[in-house]
Amino acid sequence: MSTRRKIMVTSALPYANGELHLGHIMEQIQTDIWVRFQNLRGHECHYFCADDAHGTAITLKAEEQGISPEEHIKKMHAAHLEVSQGFLVQHDNYYTTHSSENRELAEQIYTKLEANGHIAQRSIVQAFDPEKQLFLADRYIKGTCPKCKTDDQYGDNCEACGATYSPMDLINPVSVLTGATPVPKESEHFFFKLPEFSDFLKGWTRAGHLQDEVANKVAEWLDTDLQEWDISRDAPYFGFEIPGHPNKYFYVWLDAPIGYIASLKNFAERNGLDWQEYWSPDSTAEVHHFIGKDIINFHALFWPAMLHSAGMRTPTKVNVHGFVTVNGKKMSKSRGTFINGQTYLKYLDPEYLRYYFAAKLTANVDDLDLNLDDFVQRVNSDLVGKVVNIASRTAKFVSKAGGELAPTPVDPELWQRFVVASESIAQLYEARSFSKAMREIMALADAANEYIAAAAPWALAKEAGREQEVLEVCSLGINMFRALMIYLKPVLPELAKRAEAFLGETLDWNSAPNYRSGAINTFKPLLQRIDKDQVDAMIEASKEEAAQPAATGPLADEPIAAEIEFNDFAKVDMRVARIVKAQHVEGADKLLQLTLDLGGETRNVFSGIKAAYQPEDLEGRLTVMVANLKPRKMKFGMSEGMVLAAGPGGSDIYLLEPDSGSEPGQRVM
Ligand code: MSP
Ligand code: ZN
Repeated sequence: MSTRRKIMVTSALPYANGELHLGHIMEQIQTDIWVRFQNLRGHECHYFCADDAHGTAITLKAEEQGISPEEHIKKMHAAHLEVSQGFLVQHDNYYTTHSSENRELAEQIYTKLEANGHIAQRSIVQAFDPEKQLFLADRYIKGTCPKCKTDDQYGDNCEACGATYSPMDLINPVSVLTGATPVPKESEHFFFKLPEFSDFLKGWTRAGHLQDEVANKVAEWLDTDLQEWDISRDAPYFGFEIPGHPNKYFYVWLDAPIGYIASLKNFAERNGLDWQEYWSPDSTAEVHHFIGKDIINFHALFWPAMLHSAGMRTPTKVNVHGFVTVNGKKMSKSRGTFINGQTYLKYLDPEYLRYYFAAKLTANVDDLDLNLDDFVQRVNSDLVGKVVNIASRTAKFVSKAGGELAPTPVDPELWQRFVVASESIAQLYEARSFSKAMREIMALADAANEYIAAAAPWALAKEAGREQEVLEVCSLGINMFRALMIYLKPVLPELAKRAEAFLGETLDWNSAPNYRSGAINTFKPLLQRIDKDQVDAMIEASKEEAAQPAATGPLADEPIAAEIEFNDFAKVDMRVARIVKAQHVEGADKLLQLTLDLGGETRNVFSGIKAAYQPEDLEGRLTVMVANLKPRKMKFGMSEGMVLAAGPGGSDIYLLEPDSGSEPGQRVM
């Protein structure tokens, strides 16, 4: 065997302000498959990740819930880890950027950048929220576009005309946080002098660390003038204070990639590994980052330049993937295709998705579509119909013959195909061409099934004197199944475990070419088919989650929306309604089913208020509903309107109640 490589692998550190959705999960599955493959080949490969815990968004998220940022990131860390593990993603360490290791490393690296003259300091003017006493990032400011005069545009660019501007150029700018008018305010900032690394980066980005298409994209940035990178933020900021500069904090993106090293360091110190062996300038270990296409600049420009200045090694590879779409479109809350990892796991086996993503992942930056019909069809036909089928059609004949496999392949030529495939499939995994690897594996499975169908051991078994032949055919069948399970083990670790119990051995890549003889165990069913109903239930549940009133933010903190004409308002027909019946909905976590009397007419409405009300407390009460809302088909039935409520969401939600003199059906103005 070739030399044992030492490899450190990472996927991007998910922000600690939101749940993991299938986009994050795809990245972790891609990374995990690659890591498992390397270890299965006998290399020493470690997988590190962490939550990205710093920045203003974290503080705001914590404030919303009335808890400290520390409490919030702790909660999210546990939730993220649980979902990753649910998808069988095996990190060696899932840490956090809010750690002592990361603080020390960030301070050390920054101190080197400063000592090398790569930090500039100057005063800049930024938008400041006088009420919240906070500098506002562009996305926290909205106003009217100075160019085309469209309302309600973010502080950096206009969605209507595409103009880019600075937030203070907006007409009537408001702080998204308080509704206050931001004022310009000056403060000292620290900048990383990226332009000084222009030549270094022109070389580095063409030295085999990036996919060609990524290098081309980066070259466009390198050909225009690079800007200095603002790496400081003013207090209050949830992060690390810059050494020697009180009240100045590292911008979250400065310490985030350093978090990769901190996660390794924390693991290394607990496990007798030397982290410096991976990051010293002359390291022979490999470092591979897996990231999405939206964060290329941080990983292919800022990060290598910082490491270079700090006298550390740079990554071996930055592997960029595209975005997950569902049914050909961007994931969407209203279509129910914005699917949280947690929601998926309630309805479906993680290995289905691991296989489907593997079957579609390439080594380039194209988006990857999760087509739900194709998903069901592909998993059922490939995994259940092809791979598992090989064992389930042949195992019983081996058992009947005494449970011992015949010692040599009865069709050596066919077996040889499975042997030589080992290296070609390995090369495809190595190159992250997982879809090609899956195609090659399924072509072998087809060949195995054709052979078994032609040999028809079930027919031979009925003929006297052909027992040996039956055993030989089925032993080859089991051996072909065994080879396929080795090749699929990085993708399907649990299925592989069940196959190992059946075969009575631990499967590793290097033993794939060895023809197995000897005893095997009784065959038990290895994998269930997917039922389309499970997928439909998952989509409905995702819709239901998305329909949560204001589940993501305190309404009181949101600025008042743009003005509307009276005619717009008059289109909304709001009526007094009496709740004549309220009941739980079987299978719905958040909904109650309400029967509303509109003074003669009855409506059925599903409302996400289960956490706030007992059904029996609602019956007989008056409330206000939007009576002309287009009916919406939900999993549990048609929802014919919407009741009005206020509050931040969850159990803090309050149904509107008209004064007791009002009557069902009366118009609310
Ligand atoms: N915190 C930063 C990364 C810091 S790394 C030092 C971040 N976090 S993120 O939560 O927004 O994204 C984490 C990863 O998920 C990124 O690589 C991002 O590209 C990826 N994805 C987020 N949405 C995605 C899809 N819809 N599809 C595929 N990957 C996507 O960025
Ligand atoms: Zn505009």
